[in-house]
Amino acid sequence: MGHASHAAPWEACVGARHDRTDGPCTVDPWLTIPSSAYEGHTARPGVQQSQFLSQVFRDEQTALRPQTLAVLECATGNGIEHIDPAVTRRAVGVHINSPLLEALSGRFGPCLPGLRLVCADVLDMDFAECSFDLIHWALIYSRRRFRAP
Ligand SMILES: C[S@@+](CC[C@H](N)C(=O)[O-])C[C@H]1O[C@@H](n2cnc3c(N)ncnc32)[C@H](O)[C@@H]1O
Repeated sequence: MGHASHAAPWEACVGARHDRTDGPCTVDPWLTIPSSAYEGHTARPGVQQSQFLSQVFRDEQTALRPQTLAVLECATGNGIEHIDPAVTRRAVGVHINSPLLEALSGRFGPCLPGLRLVCADVLDMDFAECSFDLIHWALIYSRRRFRAP
C-alpha cells in the first residue's frame, strides 16, 4: 500500500493522521470487516449495490474526465476499474480499514501507477490543503468517533 512519503497536496491532507493506533476509533466495527464479507454482501443478487455504484462512478468519470481524483471510504475499490490512467494522472483512495485497502492495492496498484492509498479517517482530511477535479464519496458512513462500551 502506498502511504504518503512526500508533500504532494492530495497526500499531505491526510498524511499526518494515518498512523493513529489509539483512541476511540479502534472499536469501530468497520475495522474488522474482511473484504470478502463486504463484497459478498454488496454484490448479492438481492442487493446489487456494488454494481449500481460502479456504474455511477464510471458515468462520473466519463462526464468529467478528472485529472485528479479522490475516492473517500474507497473500501476495496468498487468502480476504480473505470479509471483511465491516460486521463486521471493522480488518484488517492482513503479508507479506515487497512485490509480492505490491501485488497484494493493488490487488484489495481499494478495497472494504476498514479494511485495512492491512505489508511485514515476521512474526517481528518483538510480540504483547504488540497484539491481534486472529482471527489467520489459513495455511501458516506464516517462519523467522528466510536466510543468504547
Ligand atoms: C457503507 S461502506 C461504503 C464503502 C464504499 N464507498 C462503497 O460504496 O462500497 C462505508 C465504508 O467506510 C469506511 N469508513 C467508515 N468510517 C470511516 C472513516 N471515518 N474514514 C474512512 N473510512 C471510513 C468503512 O470501513 C466502510 O467500509
